[in-house]
Formats: sequence, structure tokens, C-alpha cells
Amino acid sequence: MASKFQAPRGTFDVLPAAARQRAAVEATARAIFARAGYESIQTPSFEDTDLFERGVGRSTDIVRKEMFTFEDKGERSLTLRPEGTAPICRAYLEHGMHKLAQPVKLSYVGPFFRHERPQAGRYRQFHQLGLECIGTDSPLADAEAIMLLSDLLGELGVPGVELRIGSLGSFAARQDYLEVLKAHLRKHEGDLSSDVRERIDVNPLRAFDADDPGTQGVMASAPTIVDHLEGEDAEHFDEVKALLEAAGIDYVVDKTLVRGLDYYTRTIFSFVCDALGAQSEIGGGGRYDGLIEQLGGPATPAVGWAAGIERILLALDEEIEAEGRDAFVAIADPDQRQRAMALTVEMRHAGLAAEVDLAGRGLKGQLKHADRIGARHVVILEADGTAQLRDMQTGEQRPADTANLVDEMTGGEA
Ligand code: HAM
Repeated sequence: MASKFQAPRGTFDVLPAAARQRAAVEATARAIFARAGYESIQTPSFEDTDLFERGVGRSTDIVRKEMFTFEDKGERSLTLRPEGTAPICRAYLEHGMHKLAQPVKLSYVGPFFRHERPQAGRYRQFHQLGLECIGTDSPLADAEAIMLLSDLLGELGVPGVELRIGSLGSFAARQDYLEVLKAHLRKHEGDLSSDVRERIDVNPLRAFDADDPGTQGVMASAPTIVDHLEGEDAEHFDEVKALLEAAGIDYVVDKTLVRGLDYYTRTIFSFVCDALGAQSEIGGGGRYDGLIEQLGGPATPAVGWAAGIERILLALDEEIEAEGRDAFVAIADPDQRQRAMALTVEMRHAGLAAEVDLAGRGLKGQLKHADRIGARHVVILEADGTAQLRDMQTGEQRPADTANLVDEMTGGEA
């Protein structure tokens, strides 16, 4: 009978088949992180609201519209984390990681929360895996970060991926460009959507992301920041590109690329996948040289990215078969239950994947169930205390000595 309860809008249950796919994606990511020296960090699921307002930026959609914010019993304003970079920078400062050898290289996997309109590839609780490289402004770090995401998508076999890169310049240099952009927007104010018009002063860059045709028309002729890069910003971007080329990583420079968070400086990048619909970005990130200072710490350059696990799974659209079991212990007579339990536990302690009949099925039903779960062997415990070992592949059955059974099945290595 269907219950009257359903998972909340924009959330989903991960059932065992889907959990297998997730575990495989996470295992691939963790192996890539470990090989490159990005150790795992875990931060809480909620933080002070102010961290995201200051870190992600008050003019962003995330902070303006998408945060799950609540007051706790001590009247503190808390927010379910919409992203992981600001919390990791908070942890970096809180634990004095700026005193460690730099850069500090961290990776993470976990749930994030945004109150967005749900659609395929967009949820209110979703999962990201990502990394942050904190404490260096070297273009090598940008290139390494991009390469690791490229490796991940490549190793997983995500089809139709394109890497887009851009640069926003350093924070100071960007101010000059923003004035030029604002002037362009004001000149064409009448053609802009009201949302963009209202944010000309606070967040003019977001106009590049608008989906209404009027704004898009205005942006087609807008000056781009990539064309305004100068000095060290231009050199930095050139070096990132040269490193990617040397590593054989294809990219396109997208002069209109902007990302929905305020903390980016210099390099930004986005991996899009044509197998996904409207939500085509599978992962992205960039450099955020001003964020840690913004949060009250010393000036600390950093770069990182996050990828959406659900989007990776959507793009892959493949199933992973459940692993079979080494053995199933069948109980031919209820008097054999204690022996069956003891034998099953002994097998598990020896490292075998073993199950025992928990459902009180008849012997025929137990054999059928053993087949269903992919058991390679079935041990049948008979009423007289003897046992039979059945090979489920060949159907061959022979008397077995339960005292030596575990040794026999593990080849004596247990
Ligand atoms: P973001 O672009 O907001 O960046 O999110 C990264 C990825 O998370 C997206 O590319 C997408 O795959 C996934 N994602 C975002 N929102 C949703 C959603 N509502 N449903 C499903 N998937 C979603 C960040 O979060 C930055 N912290 C990345 C970063 C790390 N930048 C520097 N370091």
C-alpha cells in the first residue's frame, strides 16, 4: 500500500541499484584525489548564514533565493550549506591550516542544499564531489585542478564533455572592467530583463547568464573581461592555457563564462555535457584569491571545483550489477538453525559474502532465493546433522564436512 508520505519536493531516495552506481563514482573520485594528494575533509551540513552571505555573495541567486535558512533555539541564523568552498575556507582558518605547508589540498564528497525549482539534474538536496587547493596562486594549481576533473570524467567515461574556460582577472583589475560593462548595460537598459536591470550595480556580470532574448541581444555586443585582461592577469591565464595544451586537454575559451558565485577571480572553468538537457554543467569551479581574506583571514589565493554526482550519473546512464554472494546457507530442518547461523557468521568472519535463510522458506524456495542473489555455493544443513555443498553454476551437489567448509571455500587462506 502506498504511504501518504513522499520524499520532499526536489529530493529523492537512493535505492540500492542507484547506491551501487554512486559508490562506483565516489570510489573513482576518491582514488583520483588520493593519487594527487588531496586529502578528505568533512564540514557540517549547516553553517552560520553569514558565512554564505559573505562568502558566496549577497547579490547571487544562491543567497538571494535558494538558501534553506532557519533559526535554531538560540536564535542563531543557520543555513543548510548550498556549496562547500566557503565552509572549507572557514575550516582552513578555524584550524590554523594557513600555518601548514602550503598549498593545503583538500577533497570532499557530500550533500548540499539549494531551494531551486526542481527539474532533471536540478534538486533541492544534491551531492557534490570536489576539491580545493588553498595557499598558492600558481597557474600549475589551476591546471592541476582542471586536469583532475578532466581525468575523473574521462575515467568514468562521461560522454560528450566540453571544457570551457575563462578568466575574470584579479579583483582589483576587474573593477575597471565592471565600470565599462555597467556603462554598456545602462546604454541598453530598455532591452534588459528587470532582474538584470535591478542588478546593474551589484552584479552586472550575471547579465551574461541571462536567458531572456532581450538581455542576450545586449550581451552579444558587450565588452568581455577576457578581452580586457592585462599584465599578470593575462600572463596567468596564458600559462593556464599553455599547461592544459601541454597536457593534451582540449578546451574552448568562453569569453562570456561567468559562474553563479561572487568569490571567483582569474581562472573560471566549466565542464558541460551534451547528454544532459538544460542543466548541462556537470562540474565547474575556479580561482578565488579573495575569499579567505573576505572571511577575515590573511590574503590567501586558492582554486577548486565541484561536480554534481547526480549529473554525472544522469550523463552515464548505466547500471552496475549487484555483486554475487560466495555462499548461501540453507536450512533443511528448523533444528539446524543455530548451526546455520554459526556457520554463516564463521564464513563472514573469514571474509566471505554469506547469507542465511531469514524467511523460513522451504528448501526449494531457499535454493531459488540463493540463485536470485547470485550465490556461488549453497550449503544445505540436513536434519541428521550432515551437510551438502551445492555448486550453483554446475548444479553439482556433494556431501560436505562443515568443519572444513570455510577452508575449502577460501582455498585455506582464511
Ligand atoms: P556550482 O557551480 O554552484 O559551484 O556547483 C557545482 C556543481 O554542482 C554544478 O556544476 C552541478 O553539477 C552541481 N549542482 C549545483 N546545483 C545543483 C542542483 N540544484 N542540483 C544538482 N546538482 C547541482 C560550487 O558549488 C562551487 N563551490 C565550486 C567550487 C569549488 N569553486 C571553487 N571551488
